[in-house]
Order: sequence, then C-alpha cells, then structure tokens
Amino acid sequence: MGQNEILNVKHLKTHFFTDEGVVRAVDDVSFTIRKGEALGLVGESGCGKSMTALSILRLVPNPPGKIVGGEILLRGRDLLTLEEKEMRSIRGKEISMIFQEPSTSMNPSFTIGNQMKEVMRYHQRKANNHIDKQVVDILKAVRIPDPDRVLSQYPHQMSGGMLQRVMIAMAISCEPSLLICDEPTTALDVSTQAQIIDLLRLLKAKRETSLLFITHDLGVLSWICDTAAVMYAGTIVEYSDIHTILLNPWHPYTKALIGSTPRLDQDADQLRVIRGQVPNLAHLPSGCRFHPRCEMAQEICRGEAPRLEERDPGHLIACYFA
Ligand SMILES: Nc1ncnc2c1ncn2[C@@H]1O[C@H](COP(=O)(O)OP(=O)(O)O)[C@@H](O)[C@H]1O
Ligand SMILES: [Mg+2]
Repeated sequence: MGQNEILNVKHLKTHFFTDEGVVRAVDDVSFTIRKGEALGLVGESGCGKSMTALSILRLVPNPPGKIVGGEILLRGRDLLTLEEKEMRSIRGKEISMIFQEPSTSMNPSFTIGNQMKEVMRYHQRKANNHIDKQVVDILKAVRIPDPDRVLSQYPHQMSGGMLQRVMIAMAISCEPSLLICDEPTTALDVSTQAQIIDLLRLLKAKRETSLLFITHDLGVLSWICDTAAVMYAGTIVEYSDIHTILLNPWHPYTKALIGSTPRLDQDADQLRVIRGQVPNLAHLPSGCRFHPRCEMAQEICRGEAPRLEERDPGHLIACYFA
C-alpha cells in the first residue's frame, strides 16, 4: 500500500445469481482513496455504483448477490477476509455510509436524540452524560441551529435537508476514516444540496475524512471531489483527477455524460441525451460494453473489451480510440 492510502479496492467483482442469469453488477473494479481525499464514482443509474459501495461494507443482499472476487483493503487489511463480528465493529466506526433517502435509514418511532445516542453508545461504551454532550456538539458541527430542540423531534417532523444533516451527524459521530455518500443530495432542492456539500467539504478539510462520493450528477461531483472514476455497466471506463475528467475527458462515455449535464448557460433543448440505455447486466454486449451506444464504435470494439490502461500519468482509460 502506498502512503496515506485508506482504501484500496482491487479487482472487485460482485455478481447477482438470478433466474435470468448472472448479473455482473460490479465486474473487476479497482480504485484507491487517500487520507482526506474525495473520490467521485459517477455514472448513469444501474451501472453498479451502489453495489460497489455496499460491497465495501459487505452489505450486498445475499442471496442473490455475492462478492465473487477481489480485495477491499482498509489500511492494508482485507475486509473480505474478516469475520462478520469484526466487520460489525468497522461499520459505522471506521467506515460510515449515508444514503439518498435519509428517512428510510431512520426509525420513525424514536426521537432523533434516542437514535443518535444509540449509535454512539454502541461504538463507544461511554457514560450517558458524556454522550449527551457529544450529541449536541456533533449536531452543532453539522450546523443544526437548535440542537436541543432537534434531539426531541421525530424524523417526520423534520425537513429532508435537516434529516440529511442528522444522518451526516450520525455518520461522522464516531469519526470514521472513510465516509461513503451514495447520492446524498439527490432528493434535496438545489440550495439545500449546496449546503450539504459545503458541510461535507468542511468535514473533509477539518477532520481529513476520506470520501467515496457517489452521484450521477457531474455538477455535484465538481463541487467536492479530487478524483473521479466513471463507471459504466459494472466497470470503470475512465479514472483521473477531477479536472481532467471534467475538462479533458477522453472516453466517449465520459464525454457523453458531460454533454448531457445541464449548464447554466444552456437552454434545456440544447441538452444532448445519451442515446440508448445501460445494458441489462445479465446480458452484456460483446467487447466494449459501451459500443452499442458509442458514436465512435468500430469493428474492433465488438471484439475483445478494451482494458483500463494508463494513457497519461494518473489518467486511465478503457477505449481503443481515446
Ligand atoms: N437484488 C438484486 N438482484 C438482482 N440484480 C440486482 C439486485 N440489486 C441490484 N442488481 C443489479 O445491479 C445493478 C447495479 O445496481 P446499482 O449498484 O444499484 O446501480 P447504481 O447505484 O449505479 O444505480 C443493477 O443494474 C441491477 O441489475
Ligand atoms: Mg445507486
């Protein structure tokens, strides 16, 4: 492992064994996240982003899902070799995750205060009065204006933005080294979205928390990420620093994604949608998985799949024509 590397995912494969066949949701995915670094995982819906995240926490629904290959090294220790008991002490403590819909991860019948304290007690085994103060501090850290009031509220009494703040507060309460955010702002309005991203940026800068930030929105990606991996149909097709991905992308899929992202200086009718759809991952096209939708596709693209190779220092691309 290189210096400062927190997470090293190597050749990860997570498949679903269904009546329809084997769904290759994550199919040989590798990436690295360093201390205090945010890696964006971007791609259309159904490309395997969430399953990559759930694999890291070993929370893939099994059956029908199963991690069938690869390594997930957290500071050099392969999570795939751990006992479930050891894994439980890593979840929420070393690695936390926040989801798109905060309301689905909260219990509607307990107050925010009760749920937060429960999580913190589980990991810390501290005296109650310590925890009480900690909970208030952490709510202040996520800029909740009136923490004492919020602690006595139930989830349905809060707005989506406030609830997502509480989720972030819970996720960071044990100071994880890695925070996985799976479309954390997708359900929020634009201004709340910006506030949540700001908060995550602050966390990253102040606590040197590493982030795996999942989104289908390249705009959001640019606000927070240092590096980005573009995922298509279970594989990574381009991987580089964020500026290269956004300003000088090489892969036709990355270019198409950027072309389909709304910009302020553009009318809606100028937006180009990517033709076709993400393939069914149980019935993948031959060769390059993107070739049926690619404007540059040639005969060679239907043959063997192009490998993800470093074409420029730190810039990896899987395409014959990039
Ligand atoms: N329970 C399941 N059974 C079968 N296939 C599944 C299941 N869950 C997810 N998948 C498959 O995994 C693929 C990747 O899903 P996901 O990681 O959620 O995509 P993303 O987060 O990029 O939208 C989906 O296209 C779907 O076919
Ligand atoms: Mg998802």
